[in-house]
Amino acid sequence: MLAVRMAAFGAPATATLEDLPTPEPGKGEVRVAMRAAGVNYPDLLVMTGAYQHKPPLPFTPGKELAGVVDAVGAGVRGLEVGDRVMVQVEYGAFAEQVIATEAQCFRIPDGMSFVDAAAMGLVYQTGWFALFDRARMAPGDVVLVLGATGGVGLATIQIAKAMGAGTVLAGVSTMSKAQAALDAGADHVIDLSVENLRDGLREQVMAVTDGHGADVCIDPLGGDPFDAAMRALAWCGRMVVVGFAAGRIPVVKANYLLVKNIEVSGLQWSDYRDRTPDRMREAQADIFRLHAEGKLSPHVMERFSLDRVADAMAVIEERRVTGKVVLER
Ligand SMILES: NC(=O)c1ccc[n+]([C@@H]2O[C@H](COP(=O)([O-])OP(=O)(O)OC[C@H]3O[C@@H](n4cnc5c(N)ncnc54)[C@H](OP(=O)(O)O)[C@@H]3O)[C@@H](O)[C@H]2O)c1
Repeated sequence: MLAVRMAAFGAPATATLEDLPTPEPGKGEVRVAMRAAGVNYPDLLVMTGAYQHKPPLPFTPGKELAGVVDAVGAGVRGLEVGDRVMVQVEYGAFAEQVIATEAQCFRIPDGMSFVDAAAMGLVYQTGWFALFDRARMAPGDVVLVLGATGGVGLATIQIAKAMGAGTVLAGVSTMSKAQAALDAGADHVIDLSVENLRDGLREQVMAVTDGHGADVCIDPLGGDPFDAAMRALAWCGRMVVVGFAAGRIPVVKANYLLVKNIEVSGLQWSDYRDRTPDRMREAQADIFRLHAEGKLSPHVMERFSLDRVADAMAVIEERRVTGKVVLER
């Protein structure tokens, strides 16, 4: 079977496609024939060696896929050969066949394509846990989503809107992509490319919320957008740290939390996947239900074959992505 391989940490262009022996599932595991694999910003971090968990070398990158179960190990109770599943793994998804535990597999609803299923895992789960477990989003809340046109951003906008947020604000730096955020359900676009972001972000948020501010901010960027968004929170506002795509890890002064009655929390999606699989199953069921009701729809901007993994990663690396990029067989 063909698999993308990294012999050393480095640029995605150093990845090779290798023919490896067919893997066999162990106890409690299944083998899934991959049909589509979601490409994510964290894959870039893993490949370049910048991610918090580094796989042993050589390794196959990729955190999510959708496909068909084609072999079942001993002790597996809930899956059979032929079942269509979406799978979340730590790494290894960019391959024709992937081994996963039963807990890492989610049945794909009838009628959902493999490409859509591969795009409805990691980023939607991240948005879901950020909004509900970390920010305790309530109906009517003003929700500000930074990095709004990326994978996490568009998914989070859709979930917030579907679950009753009052006003959803999309923080966008590449304004040519702003329409995608509005199409996903955002009520207003907040321009993060303004010259004086420190004041400019706050002014824009206050202008469209009658001076209320953001009850919730979901931040995959860090850096200057984080600092500016902290000043745009409402009384008792909740900021969730999701990532640092803007490059700088911000520092929070504790007195600021006290004076403004605000809180900052962090989200590590993979911890929910590994520590609370039942809660993750609830989240994914909710995501698939909202999709069936027509309230969520993954935005897949481009598909690539497995041998073009470097081109797919370049879309993410060069900040050209809107929504999701998917590898396909
Ligand atoms: N904590 C977790 O568990 C978790 C889970 C998933 C992802 N993440 C992290 O969340 C971040 C976003 O992930 P994603 O999948 O949404 O990424 P993505 O699809 O590549 O989108 C990132 C978006 O951020 C915006 N951005 C603004 N400033 C940027 C900069 N200096 N460099 C790059 N992008 C910039 C870009 O949109 P505009 O140009 O339109 O602003 C870009 O499209 C990443 O840091 C990722 O590692 C964390």
